[in-house]
Amino acid sequence: MTTITVKTSRTYDVVIGKGLLDSIGARLSGLIPPKSAVFLVSDDHVYPLYGETVCGALEAAGFTVFTHIAPAGERSKDAHRLTKLWLQLADAGFTRSDCVVALGGGVIGDLAGFAAATYLRGIPYYQVPTSLLAMVDSSVGGKTAINLAAGKNLCGAFWQPIEVLCDPAVLTTLPEDYLADGMAEILKYGYIGNPALLEVLAGDIKNSMEDVIARCVAHKRDIVEADERESGIRRLLNLGHTAGHAIEKLSEHRIPHGHAVAIGMLLAAKAAVALSLCDESLPAHMEGLLTRYGLDTVCPYRAEELARYALLDKKRTGNHITLILPTAIGKSVTYQIAASALTDFFLKGGAPA
Ligand code: GLY
Repeated sequence: MTTITVKTSRTYDVVIGKGLLDSIGARLSGLIPPKSAVFLVSDDHVYPLYGETVCGALEAAGFTVFTHIAPAGERSKDAHRLTKLWLQLADAGFTRSDCVVALGGGVIGDLAGFAAATYLRGIPYYQVPTSLLAMVDSSVGGKTAINLAAGKNLCGAFWQPIEVLCDPAVLTTLPEDYLADGMAEILKYGYIGNPALLEVLAGDIKNSMEDVIARCVAHKRDIVEADERESGIRRLLNLGHTAGHAIEKLSEHRIPHGHAVAIGMLLAAKAAVALSLCDESLPAHMEGLLTRYGLDTVCPYRAEELARYALLDKKRTGNHITLILPTAIGKSVTYQIAASALTDFFLKGGAPA
């Protein structure tokens, strides 16, 4: 088992190890009062696979378990479901010594985390990420949110979990496409500042997933410890996300987050070369690794459409938007452009006119 301690406004461990799922009851016992109530939030893909194990372990440890099972998919991350969850927490009489447990991917983590962040002005929550993407990115660092019709993650809070439990054994039931989704975020760490990780990813990682996950979590730990509220270095984690969020939205979430981010990363790399800010060899390097890990690289939406949605994004300040641009293999920087220049930026990145 690998333990990575994250020291932010709350200090917590991310524990990574095959077979850890069974130990959730014992682990939570060390973190909240005995006989507390636990609200297990999951989805209808994950709960049938792991719900019984997790509920059984929590009950065996003396907790009273309530469940909320949402339909799988991004649409569950909305105000309607959040309200339902708040009302269920109130009906069950949850107090600040009780706990919300998120068992699922990024959607469930964000939804459950935001409910926990806001109910009674904040109650503890425990993350059990079951997708590769959630293990390496969204479960760590305390970003919680729901989507609005106007855009992704527009309502949210920074609220750190009390622990994150990653059991890579659960990845064996994850469909290929979802693994590719997580690989996009893993490659992102490489391109924002982890050339050693890119070398590992150029080799065979079949038997070293636990090590790859730990490398990403350690990298994210370093970033969120330095900048918990995203006023500086944490912005680098948004490489590929400005176009990526627009692509998710334009596809009505048929193109999932990681796949959209992959397209956005390559677009940023190509635009950075066109602006003479990036090593010319980088786009081909990036495209090679993205393709190798099953990710599409062609942007299906016009530059002007991307810009229209991207301007609703949180990364906009007044008439400027902060982009993340790769400058060399394993290095990225923040770059501000005028909102009016965004369509041209996407055109430079290869989005259709
Ligand atoms: N997923 C980006 C961040 O946590 O900042």
